[in-house]
Amino acid sequence: MSDSQTPNQLAIQESLKARIISRPNPWVGAVIVPYGFQDDPAKWISGHTQRYKGDHAEICAIKNAGDLTVNATLYVTLEPCNHFGNTPPCTEAIIAAGITKVVVGIIDPDQRVSGSGIQKLLEAGIEVEFFSDADRKSIIEILLPYLWHKKTQTPFILLKMAVTADGKTATSTGDSKWISSEASRKFVHYIRATADAIVVGASTVKNDDPELTVRYGYETELLNQPMRIVFGGVPEGSKIEPCIKFSGDIVNFLDEFKMYDFQLVMIEGGSNVAAEFMSSGLVNMIMLFMAPKIYGGNDAFSIFSGSGPKYIKDLQKGSFGAVELIGGDIKINYYTEDTVEFINSISEITRNVIADT
Ligand SMILES: NC(=O)c1ccc[n+]([C@@H]2O[C@H](COP(=O)([O-])OP(=O)(O)OC[C@H]3O[C@@H](n4cnc5c(N)ncnc54)[C@H](OP(=O)(O)O)[C@@H]3O)[C@@H](O)[C@H]2O)c1
Repeated sequence: MSDSQTPNQLAIQESLKARIISRPNPWVGAVIVPYGFQDDPAKWISGHTQRYKGDHAEICAIKNAGDLTVNATLYVTLEPCNHFGNTPPCTEAIIAAGITKVVVGIIDPDQRVSGSGIQKLLEAGIEVEFFSDADRKSIIEILLPYLWHKKTQTPFILLKMAVTADGKTATSTGDSKWISSEASRKFVHYIRATADAIVVGASTVKNDDPELTVRYGYETELLNQPMRIVFGGVPEGSKIEPCIKFSGDIVNFLDEFKMYDFQLVMIEGGSNVAAEFMSSGLVNMIMLFMAPKIYGGNDAFSIFSGSGPKYIKDLQKGSFGAVELIGGDIKINYYTEDTVEFINSISEITRNVIADT
C-alpha cells in the first residue's frame, strides 16, 4: 500500500482481488479504518468478496478487524446488502460491529438492495458518506459486467482484439501471432478468467488452432474454465475441443445461450465474427491491445470485416474508458453508445441517493 493511497482507492484495489472468484456476486472491496487511525494506513484492515455463497467484502473486513471495528469507519465499493440471500444482511453485521461511519462507492442496482442498505444504516444512526465522483466512475467501470447483467438479465459482451498501430489484426496471409506483447497476452488470460464464455470464428480456429483456455496461473482460481463457443465448424483434432458450436443468425445468439445466464461473454475474433456482433448492436465494450507495430498496407485484416457507412455522420459513437500501458502496448477500453448511456444511468442512481441522504 502506498502512503498516498486513500481508503477509497485501497477498497477499489481490494475489489479487484475478488474479480475472478466472486461471480455471479459482485466483486467488492472494503476497508476498515479503526478509530483514530485515519492517517495511519498501516493500521487499515481490508477484505474482499469471497467465492460465491461465501462472505461479502464487509464481513471479511469486519472479521479481519476483530475489536477494532468499534467506532471505526468502513469504506466499501458497493452499497451493503440489506436482505437475506446466501448470507445474512451485511447492514446488520455493520451495526452489530459498532461501526459509526460508512463511506459507500455506488448504490447496488439489485432490486433487493437499491438504496435500502443506506436507509438501514441511517436508521441505525450510522453516518453515511460517498466516494468521490472519480472513484465512483472507476468502480462502475470495474463492475460493469455485474451491473449490466443485473439490470438487463443479458450478458455483458466484450470484444477483445490485438491490433497494430494502423489498426490491423492479421496480415494478408492470416498471420496474427503475435501482434501484442507477452504482458498483454498474459493480461488477456486474467480477463478470460472473469468470463463465462469465449466466442471465436471458424476461420480463426482453422488458421490459429487456439486453445482459448485460461492459463498463466489464473486457472488455479477457477472452478470451471469458460465455455468455448465456435461460430461455424471445427476441424477434427482442434485444440479448442470440447466446445459448443453456434451457427445461424446472430440475432438468435442471446436466446440460444439464455439458459446459461452468462454474465460476461468475451468475443476473441476474428474480423467476421467481430463485425457480426458489432453490427447486431450486441457489443458493450471493445478492449484493444494496440502494439507499436505498423503493417503499412491495406490488404490485411481489420478489426471488422465488410464495409462500413459512407458518411462520417453515420459512424457509431461511443466513449473511451480506462487507457493503460501494458508491456509496451496501449490497452484501450472503448464503450459503445448504449453502454455509455447505461454507465450514466448507473451514476444517476447513486447521485439521486446522495441528493436524498
Ligand atoms: N488480432 C487479433 O486479435 C485476432 C483475433 C482473432 C483472429 N485473428 C485473425 O483473424 C483471422 C480470421 O478472421 P476472419 O474474419 O477470417 O474469420 P473469423 O471471424 O474467425 O471466422 C469467420 C467464419 O466463422 C464462421 N461463421 C461466422 N459467423 C457464423 C454464423 N453466424 N454461423 C455459422 N458460421 C459462422 C464462418 O465459417 P465458414 O466460412 O467455415 O462457414 C466464417 O467464415 C485469422 O487470420 C486470425 O489469425 C486476429
